[in-house]
Amino acid sequence: GAAVEVDISDLKPGEKITAEWRGKPIWILRRTPEQIAELPQLDSQLADPKSERTAYPTPDYAKNETRSIKPEVLVVIGICTHLGCSPTDKLQPGPQPSLPDDWKGGFLCPCHGSTFDLAGRVFKNKPAPDNLEVPAHQYLSDTKLLIG
Ligand code: FES
Repeated sequence: GAAVEVDISDLKPGEKITAEWRGKPIWILRRTPEQIAELPQLDSQLADPKSERTAYPTPDYAKNETRSIKPEVLVVIGICTHLGCSPTDKLQPGPQPSLPDDWKGGFLCPCHGSTFDLAGRVFKNKPAPDNLEVPAHQYLSDTKLLIG
């Protein structure tokens, strides 16, 4: 499929937009400095904190703590790696139904309860085997992304 351009100039810290590429939802989230700072502290709770598994290989340019080219901008395919449901935004920290009390923000799959952090990394002991997939992407300018 053709690559898709996305303008992220209006995307504010803490906000997420969804683009479409090859019929798949592509989530683009601009993380706050606080959200970025939380990521390394979650590593021990995650199934594959360094994105070393190969089923949905993370591109080299996103094989880092934030799984992204720019630390603040997450780009992932919004499809659960278990059986393909669409996870729900749970971006706000704090207690919420089906989430731990110390929830830092992320995504919850309503189908079988897999949880993902704000880098799309799956928590341990969940049905989803892998982190959310990072699609091939690049920046055409500071505010324009090319997906695919
Ligand atoms: Fe997401 Fe099963 S499809 S947990």
